[in-house]
Parts: sequence; structure tokens; C-alpha cells
Amino acid sequence: MEKRTDWYEHPEYYEAIFGTDTVREVDFLQALSERHGTGGKQWLEPACGAGRLVAEATSRGLKVTGYDISEAMLAHARKRLTPARRRQVKLSVSRMEEFFEPSLEGKVDVAHNLVSTFRYLDSEAAALAHLKGTRRLLKPQGLYVLGFHLTDYARTSAEHERWLGKVGKDKVVCNTHEGLPDRRARRSPMRNRLRITGPGKDWLIETTWFFRTYDAAQANRLFRNAGLRVVAAYDFDYDLSTPVERGSRRLDRVFVLQPVPSEGSVVEVKKPSADARKKVARRASAPRK
Ligand SMILES: C[S@@+](CC[C@H](N)C(=O)[O-])C[C@H]1O[C@@H](n2cnc3c(N)ncnc32)[C@H](O)[C@@H]1O
Repeated sequence: MEKRTDWYEHPEYYEAIFGTDTVREVDFLQALSERHGTGGKQWLEPACGAGRLVAEATSRGLKVTGYDISEAMLAHARKRLTPARRRQVKLSVSRMEEFFEPSLEGKVDVAHNLVSTFRYLDSEAAALAHLKGTRRLLKPQGLYVLGFHLTDYARTSAEHERWLGKVGKDKVVCNTHEGLPDRRARRSPMRNRLRITGPGKDWLIETTWFFRTYDAAQANRLFRNAGLRVVAAYDFDYDLSTPVERGSRRLDRVFVLQPVPSEGSVVEVKKPSADARKKVARRASAPRK
């Protein structure tokens, strides 16, 4: 067996596992934007990785800016786009805690970061810098859709997820392990093992890192400090008809965040669609019971 150490150096195997939900995720993001945001076309994906969501959003006519810390992941993202699609997309190397693009200031309709990537930011200062920087790029009614697992500090056993995928003739088995959280250090040890077997191939890619931890109160405090409010919350089922109830015990969370309007600012209210206007008119003219 050949051993390797960084799954992001092997985007095709990473995506064999994470790529399966792509269409559903973009459907969900578009529906969220219609319901809670502007429904507009300018999207931003911090830590866009190998570009599965960038490619799907672009194929739907959206204008996408993405950035990532890993050149190997971005190279894969560029390769998958046709020359015409590449013109709709801006991709660059950058860190979540630093990214700023002046031409996007106040222009973004949807920023999204769905698969716990936010937890790579390893301090409160880094997380705050990222949220404030992203907020600055959003339209007043734009959304930052942030998906990650909250932490149950009372947990006494490790957590484990196992996924299967395929790349051509190669079989991919993915095991992710989250150790016990350290409440004081605000982090959990993580380990991912990708075992790839196929004709002439037997690889083990083992990656270890720490994820920052948040319980609901810690997450909400951070959002408030960054000038963002939670307009809705869902879980990883990505189902708009079942928002997370207050006090829910599920830990997988998709926070729909919007800039808190600064005092004296005028927020433009989204014009209702012709269809919505007709419905309101019908309701207004219906006889009262
Ligand atoms: C789990 S992948 C998610 C990729 C993509 N968003 C998706 O859904 O497929 C996490 C990505 O975060 C990137 N990353 C980790 N820390 C980062 C940081 N501080 N700034 C920017 N990118 C980072 C990694 O290179 C990797 O591509």
C-alpha cells in the first residue's frame, strides 16, 4: 500500500465523496436566495476547493467568484470549466481570513460555505475577520449561507462517518473521524482516511487536522460580533420546508446570515415577482369569512 498525506492534493478522490450532493446543494442555495435574499446572480464561494459548486452554479447562468488556499484544488476547478464558462468565473488563491475584492464590495447576492470548511479557521480572530470580510462584500439583503456541525461538549465518544465513491475503475472508501472536543482550546482533532483501490493501485491518503468548535451560543455570539444576523436555520437535509426548530438537538446546521443594517441605512426591499403580486391581489379581493 502506498501512503500519502493530503487529500486536497488529490481533488478527484475528494470529489468522488463530496461531489454527490452538488445539484441538490445549488438547488437549495437558489431557493434560499429566492426566499430570504435577493435572488440575484452574483455568487461568492469562499474555499471553493475543486470547484464542483462553482461549475454547477456557472452552468445555471450565475456569475461566480471563488477562492481557495490550495492551488491544486483551484487547478482542478479551472480544468473542469469550458473557455466560455471560465469567462463567467473568477478564481484566485486566497485565505478565508484575508480575501477582499474591491470590485465586489456590496455586490454579492449569495456567499456560501457548506461543508464545515468554516471550522478550519482556528481562532476567534480568524473567524471574525472572515465573517466581517464576507459581510462587507454582501448586498444589504444578500446572504451568507454557512453550513457546519455544532459541537456537543458533553460528548464522550468519537464520531465517525463512512462514505463510498468511485473514480473510473478506482473504488474510494472515505472514513472521517472526529475525536473528543477540547472545550478550553475550542478544537476537535480530525482524521480522514481515503483508501483507493483499483487496477495497479492501492493508496491510503491520511489527513489529520484540527477543527474549531462552536456550540449554538458561541456561534450566535460570533455572528452578532461580525454584524450578521441569523434569518433562518436549516439542517444538512437541505429541505426548505423543515427549518430547524428552536432547541433542536441536531448538530448539523446551515445558518442563513444577513448583514445587520447599520443605523440610518436604507434597505431596499426586494420587489415581489408578478406572480406574488397576483397572489396578494387575489387574497385582498377574496371575501372575508
Ligand atoms: C471540504 S473542502 C470544501 C471545498 C468546496 N467548498 C466544496 O464544497 O466542495 C475545504 C476547502 O477549504 C480549503 N481551505 C482550508 N482552509 C482554508 C483557508 N484558511 N482559506 C481558504 N481556503 C481554505 C481547502 O484547500 C479545501 O479546498
